[in-house]
Amino acid sequence: MAETNPIVQGLATIHKIISRGLNISIRKCDEYLSKKGIPQGETTGFYMYLSTLKKVTHAHHLSEDDVAFPYFMNLIEAPYDRLKDDHQKIASILETLDKHISEIPSSGVGKLREVLLEIEKLWVPHIIIEEENLTAEKLNKVIGIKEQADLTEKLSRHGRENSGPGPLTLPFMIYNLEGNDREAFTKPFPWILKKVLIPIIWKGQWKPMSPFFL
Ligand SMILES: [Fe+2]
Ligand SMILES: [Fe+2]
Repeated sequence: MAETNPIVQGLATIHKIISRGLNISIRKCDEYLSKKGIPQGETTGFYMYLSTLKKVTHAHHLSEDDVAFPYFMNLIEAPYDRLKDDHQKIASILETLDKHISEIPSSGVGKLREVLLEIEKLWVPHIIIEEENLTAEKLNKVIGIKEQADLTEKLSRHGRENSGPGPLTLPFMIYNLEGNDREAFTKPFPWILKKVLIPIIWKGQWKPMSPFFL
């Protein structure tokens, strides 16, 4: 069986969330373009979904730049400069995305689609480089169990601080994951968060995004 590692698993999970987020957003743009517009009931949710995708992606890159890469840099070889450069490029396209989100209802689904494709074009090779270089085998050789747990905690804390309001971000992350991945991701969550806050108390806030969720 392939080796596992909580840091690598966390990385793969957030990559899956963002990849699906991009993919669904592009497919939805295609659908809206063919229908000549966004159905009224989906406008708010689509806006919310895109802006949460933007926040989650940006927060992930900040965590890598500020926490993960500085830690790995002296331990594992990887093209960190290229990866950080990609983060900057993606950050500037995310700003453009933000600008277009505010224009969704009136104009630019076509423009929005272009911007999303631009992000995807950088994103796909970017995560391949990360996942090929930062493997469980390599990390397990140079980072002890205790340090792995500490770093995982540090990364998730850093992510929480930068990814926007939990009532939107957490459902976005959970419901963009499929069965087993979702279960593994939510396993460490406190019961109250999993069973009460997210599905009941916060539902009024994230519900508009549900047409885009799994
Ligand atoms: Fe990255
Ligand atoms: Fe990444």
